[in-house]
Amino acid sequence: QVIRRAYVEPGDVKAWHKLDCKHVVEAQQFGPEALHAIFAEAAQMEKVKPGTAEAKVLDGRVMATLFYEPSTRTRLSFESAITHLGGTVLSTESAGEYSSAAKGETLEDTIRTIENYADCIVLRHFQAGSAKRAALVSSVPIINAGDGPGQHPTQALLDVYSIKKEIGRLNNLKIGMVGDLLNGRTVHSLAYMLSMFEGVKMYFVAPKVVAMKEEIKTYLTGKGVEWEEVDDLNAVASDVDVLYMTRIQKERFDDMKQYTAARGKYIIDTKVMQQLRNDAVVLHPLPRVDEIAVEVDDDPRAAYFRQAKNGLYIRMAIVKQCLLGC
Ligand code: CP
Repeated sequence: QVIRRAYVEPGDVKAWHKLDCKHVVEAQQFGPEALHAIFAEAAQMEKVKPGTAEAKVLDGRVMATLFYEPSTRTRLSFESAITHLGGTVLSTESAGEYSSAAKGETLEDTIRTIENYADCIVLRHFQAGSAKRAALVSSVPIINAGDGPGQHPTQALLDVYSIKKEIGRLNNLKIGMVGDLLNGRTVHSLAYMLSMFEGVKMYFVAPKVVAMKEEIKTYLTGKGVEWEEVDDLNAVASDVDVLYMTRIQKERFDDMKQYTAARGKYIIDTKVMQQLRNDAVVLHPLPRVDEIAVEVDDDPRAAYFRQAKNGLYIRMAIVKQCLLGC
C-alpha cells in the first residue's frame, strides 16, 4: 500500500527539515535555518568537479520535469543540476500538448503515474495552486517550478542567494521590485522570502494595472515589513541596494490595450543606471523583453546573468536535499 506523505502547511518555518518527503511548494515554507542549509550546500555545489564522488551522489536517481508552460532557465538548470550529480532526467515540455493532459487526464492522475517512474517531479503549470495540488497526491517530492501567477520558490532561493553573494548581507536591505508585480510569480516568492530578514524595505514600482497583490502587502504588513508603492523609478534606483526588474507578462492579459499601456512604462537604461549606487545591483529573473536595455548588460552592476548561473547551484542543492533526504 502506498502511503501518501503529508503536505506541511506554510507557516511552519521548520517544515522543510521535518518533512519526510521534501516538497518545495512556496516560499513561506522556508525559514532562516533551511535557507542557511541550502545556501551552504549551494556553495559546495559550486565546487563539484566531474568524475569526483560528489558528481555521482545521485547516481541511479531519476528526475521528471513536467512543464506545461515555456521555460529556458528553470527546466534546463534543473536538468543540468541532476546531471551534474550523476542522475538522469525524464523531460516533458509543452506538457499540455504532448502529455496525456491533451486527452483530458487530470494533473493528479498524471502525478500519480509519473511518481512510479521518477524519484522527484519538477512541475511548471499554468494554474496558481497546482504545485500544492500535486504535492497532496504525490509520494515523491514535488518541486514547484512556477505555478501560473502564483509562486516560483526556487527562483526566490536563487535570487536571495544571489543577493547574499552580490551585496554581502540580507538584513537591512533596500530592494525595488519593478514591473509586473501582479502576475510575476518571482516577485511574490521573493517578497515572502525576504520578509524573514530584519530591516528589509521593499519599494513596489509597477503600472497600476499590475500593482503588487493585496494579499502579499497584507502579509508583509503583518510581519512588520516596511513597504511602499512608488511611481518614480529614478528615485527608487538612487536609494536601493537591489533593483529587481521583471517583464510585463503579456500571456496573463485578456486585454491587449492594457498590456500595451503597461509595457514600456518602466525601463532600465543607462540614465537609470546613473542613479544607481556603485555598490547596488540589478537583478532580473529573465526572460527580458525590453525592460532592461541591452546597453546595460556590460555594466558590472548588471548581475542577471550571474544570477541565472546561481540557479544551477541552488537547484543542485535542492535536488540533492530532496532526493537524499527523502
Ligand atoms: N526565471 C525563469 O523562470 O525563467 P524561465 O521561464 O526561462 O524558466
